[in-house]
Amino acid sequence: MKNQGPLHLDDGGMNSGSESNQVFSRKRTIDAPDIELPPEIEPNTRLKMDGLEFLAKLPADAIPVAFFDPQYRGVLDKLAYGNEGESRERRRSALQQMPEPVIGQFISGMDRVLIPSGHLFLWVDKFHLCQGMKPWFEGTSLEIVDMLTWDKGTFGMGYRTRRRAEYCVILQKRPKKAKGVWKIHNIPDVVKESASQKEHPHSKPVELQGSLLCAVTNEGDFVIDPAAGSFSVLAAARNNDRVFLGCDLNG
Ligand SMILES: C[S@@+](CC[C@H](N)C(=O)[O-])C[C@H]1O[C@@H](n2cnc3c(N)ncnc32)[C@H](O)[C@@H]1O
Repeated sequence: MKNQGPLHLDDGGMNSGSESNQVFSRKRTIDAPDIELPPEIEPNTRLKMDGLEFLAKLPADAIPVAFFDPQYRGVLDKLAYGNEGESRERRRSALQQMPEPVIGQFISGMDRVLIPSGHLFLWVDKFHLCQGMKPWFEGTSLEIVDMLTWDKGTFGMGYRTRRRAEYCVILQKRPKKAKGVWKIHNIPDVVKESASQKEHPHSKPVELQGSLLCAVTNEGDFVIDPAAGSFSVLAAARNNDRVFLGCDLNG
């Protein structure tokens, strides 16, 4: 079933029984409003634009779901191998880094444009996961409601253990609720999927992002990504008949 997202996993019986007597819901009872976009924000294209500028052009309380994968310095700082800018780190270092206050500005921008009960899927590394990212959400109406681990299946760097996972923190704009908002209940919180790093060193998994966006939107709804890299979210939106709006400094 297309709307069910691409994972097609058994739901462990969580969806059995009639809709009304379940804690969970397979239907969304909230709708995104019709919105008018400025002509420069062309849907389903790879816009070359600053993400903060992009967010400022969107209307408030309009978008059901946002993805954000910040170009943070975390990994490069913490794993200061002395080869930053060299060899395998060259492609990463060439990308525009986002200082922590800029990440906060992006998140405030997404908080403004999300509909009430809208979701933000935020990709983080293990350093932010352990040491905290709360300052990024201060003053916003976003709350952490869940998290999942992406097993990339590849063997990365690390002085002690070698990195092979990244984390997707799930935030929801107030009011916080799942029933009537989150409609797919077979997404596990650990997912293995490969993602091609040919086009971009930080590409995220298209199928997993497709399942996540299907869980919190209906067909035809808008999905945004203001720092889209390889535009994996555009691919996920296309595969699932959602409308993508997003940009990257590098287009
Ligand atoms: C971690 S990557 C995103 C990868 C993406 N999720 C994917 O699946 O390919 C972060 C991206 O943010 C972009 N970036 C950095 N600063 C930006 C800004 N101010 N506006 C828009 N994009 C920016 C970088 O060029 C980089 O491609």
